[in-house]
Amino acid sequence: MQGTKVVVVGVGNCCSALVQSIMYHSKNPKGLINYELGGLKPSDIEIVGAIDIDSRKVGKDLSEAIFADPNVVPKLTEVPFTGVKVVKGPVLDGAEGVLSDVIKVDDSQPVDVSAYLNELGGGMLLCLLPTGCQRAVEFYADAALKSGYAFLNCTPAKIASDNRWAEAFEDKGIPLVGDDLMSQMGGTVFHMGVLDFLTRRGVVVTKTYQLDISGTVEAFGVLEDFRREEKRKVKSDAIRQMLPPESSVATGTSDYVGFMKDCRTGYFYIEGKNCLGSDITIDIYLRTHDGPNGAGILLDVIRAVKIASDRGVGGPLTSVCAYGFKNPPIRSSINESAEWFRAFIKGERKR
Ligand SMILES: NC(=O)c1ccc[n+]([C@@H]2O[C@H](COP(=O)([O-])OP(=O)(O)OC[C@H]3O[C@@H](n4cnc5c(N)ncnc54)[C@H](O)[C@@H]3O)[C@@H](O)[C@H]2O)c1
Repeated sequence: MQGTKVVVVGVGNCCSALVQSIMYHSKNPKGLINYELGGLKPSDIEIVGAIDIDSRKVGKDLSEAIFADPNVVPKLTEVPFTGVKVVKGPVLDGAEGVLSDVIKVDDSQPVDVSAYLNELGGGMLLCLLPTGCQRAVEFYADAALKSGYAFLNCTPAKIASDNRWAEAFEDKGIPLVGDDLMSQMGGTVFHMGVLDFLTRRGVVVTKTYQLDISGTVEAFGVLEDFRREEKRKVKSDAIRQMLPPESSVATGTSDYVGFMKDCRTGYFYIEGKNCLGSDITIDIYLRTHDGPNGAGILLDVIRAVKIASDRGVGGPLTSVCAYGFKNPPIRSSINESAEWFRAFIKGERKR
């Protein structure tokens, strides 16, 4: 099996954690869902290209750019010089609204993205653009299609869940996964897990919310109404599908608190009824780190996409999407999607 070559678009917090996790977990298997997956280890993942628009990142080696402002994921492991220089991409809608306060757009000319991808010789394009840049995400999905790169959409923009994009990737036999990454132990997967447990024990959940606070650029951007709505819709839909239609559901980032940096606190409230219609109320808080949480699942998703590419399987990888994303083309429960993912890796499910 050849190396797993990845080009990253968006050298933000999630990218920082991904680069660090590849280094850290080259020797340390603890803390991952899967250390070895289909014969691949995290150290088999190679970041071969990186695109951003921020002047503090463009032109720098990836090992330096991942620690540049406004990224807040701390240095958790040493990252040696990578030899991958961050290039400037087209800005499109990547720094609109409040994001223009935190992203310093580099004034150099953008690269010709297709030529850049062709020069790198193929692999997969990992889209880690901010929430709310539909145009930029579509631009990169199109570039992936034209250059034969698998496309991994970690943003809430609709790509894998949009039939037109799904068919375009299927027609060309190119793998596609998305939309909106579901972290290794983030708010959505945790909430789904608790609700699943309650439902299995016969509890009828009537009301639930998950509200969270973080100090990342992502949390800052989501203060803006259109981004907040996009993110809330994806998160609420993921939770709503697990509950009776009459249940009340609210989820999403509620505030940005700078000093929290990469830390995220999620507050969960659940109200339900069990035997004899008696009340059950649950209040939980979960404190995690956004970047590592995203990297933890990406290590699996990237290797699964590589396995699909090697098997010549294109189009939306529905098992991988259900396992690793909040808005997949086909939804499933946590347990079933984990089972689909396992079967896909073993070759028992095509996609
Ligand atoms: N745990 C997680 O990290 C997690 C979980 C779920 C979803 N996601 C999604 O992943 C995406 C990335 O998250 P993040 O926390 O790393 O975001 P971030 O804001 O830290 O990073 C985004 C990066 O994209 C760059 N950018 C903006 N416009 C660009 C353009 N046109 N071309 C190239 N680069 C551009 C920014 O300069 C920045 O470096 C978001 O859409 C988020 O919703 C992340």
